[in-house]
Amino acid sequence: MKFTEICPRSKLYSLIDIRLFFFATKFFYQNLFKYLNKQNSQEGGQNPTEVIKNQLRIYQYTLITQIINEKKMRGKKAMKRSKILVLLLAFVMVLGLLAGCSPAPAEPAVEEPAPEEKIKVGLSLPTQREERWVRDKEKMEQVAAEMGVELIVKVADANMQEQITQVEALLTQGIDVLILAPHDAAAAATLVDKAKQEGVPVISYDRLITNTDNLDIYLSFDNVRVGELQGQFITEQVPEGNYIIMSGAPTDNNAKLFKEGAMKYLQPLIDANKINVIAEQGVENWVPENALKIVEAALAANNNEVDAILAPNDGTAGAAIQALAAQGLAGKVPITGQDAEKAAAKRIMEGTQSMTIFKDTRDLGTAAIEIAIKLANGEAVSTNGEVDNGIENVPSVLLEAKIVTKDNLKAVLIDSGYMTEADIQ
Ligand code: BGC
Repeated sequence: MKFTEICPRSKLYSLIDIRLFFFATKFFYQNLFKYLNKQNSQEGGQNPTEVIKNQLRIYQYTLITQIINEKKMRGKKAMKRSKILVLLLAFVMVLGLLAGCSPAPAEPAVEEPAPEEKIKVGLSLPTQREERWVRDKEKMEQVAAEMGVELIVKVADANMQEQITQVEALLTQGIDVLILAPHDAAAAATLVDKAKQEGVPVISYDRLITNTDNLDIYLSFDNVRVGELQGQFITEQVPEGNYIIMSGAPTDNNAKLFKEGAMKYLQPLIDANKINVIAEQGVENWVPENALKIVEAALAANNNEVDAILAPNDGTAGAAIQALAAQGLAGKVPITGQDAEKAAAKRIMEGTQSMTIFKDTRDLGTAAIEIAIKLANGEAVSTNGEVDNGIENVPSVLLEAKIVTKDNLKAVLIDSGYMTEADIQ
């Protein structure tokens, strides 16, 4: 017996029709729910599938009560109306089922996780007068940007009152760490103490802050070694004769350390009456004009009989060379320097300045930001020394300084990319 005999063609077609109708409706509603859910997850608000299901439930309830009411009534019309209502109810129930098998509503819109808070670092620099401080600033800005650190920079222009105001302002800006290169080593102590009270760790940058036991780290070069390199060099060049000994700003602890190192070589020769000191003075605020006056006065008082000059940095060396040049002595009197400024590198190549000290500010700036991140995260910082600041031995990270003369200038400064050949022409 054939299937068509049991199920005649007309019945078969109507069965297929119902199935087609069922799948078409299912397809339509599933896509409708998908669309509505998508819209909803983008805009927020009540889940539309639920809204529709609730609506259908209300229709079903209304239809059932209507059917019961119609059934209570007699007559052909009531019978007909109740049949239509039953059909409608069946339709609504099918819709309800479809809504039930619609895809699970999209996950409620998950709140975007708050972007991770950036570490905020305050940087207070004493000046931008010397080229090196410009380099320090640029390097720290670059590394901070690369490491996703927010760096707020203030420059005090060699004015302690200005630096106090600026650091106090930084402390009100919610910084996590303070990098402080003090204009005045002792006066900056109150700033460190204030930062400590507010739970902000402090890195004493390049220059040591004295008179406080609240410092977290001192990050600098081995500054006594810097002085030793200067002292050793100049005494090798001029083991006896008339010396002008200049040191840096008396308010800068580095000046003390540089001189301490240099005197290790000079003092024995002074004691042995080989070196005759014709002038010995600190250069107020590291200002070159002050160095110029010191050298001019010493030259004038000693009939230009000067054999060597200890200049603490390139800025003061440049001024001293200007004073020598005015007397026709430039290039004839050995003179030290420090910082590897471009102008100094040029003078070294020309032969008017004898040496400089290269302190790679790229390394110092990078280390400062790396240490700041560690301190902000409460991580330990590995140190390689301790330096006495008058109150305590401050845990220190001290980088290595290199001596630069005409012989190694290109290898040290140009090959390392610190400056270009054009800079020294
Ligand atoms: C720095 C030197 C700089 C001097 C003047 C010192 O504390 O270590 O590199 O030349 O200050 O700014």
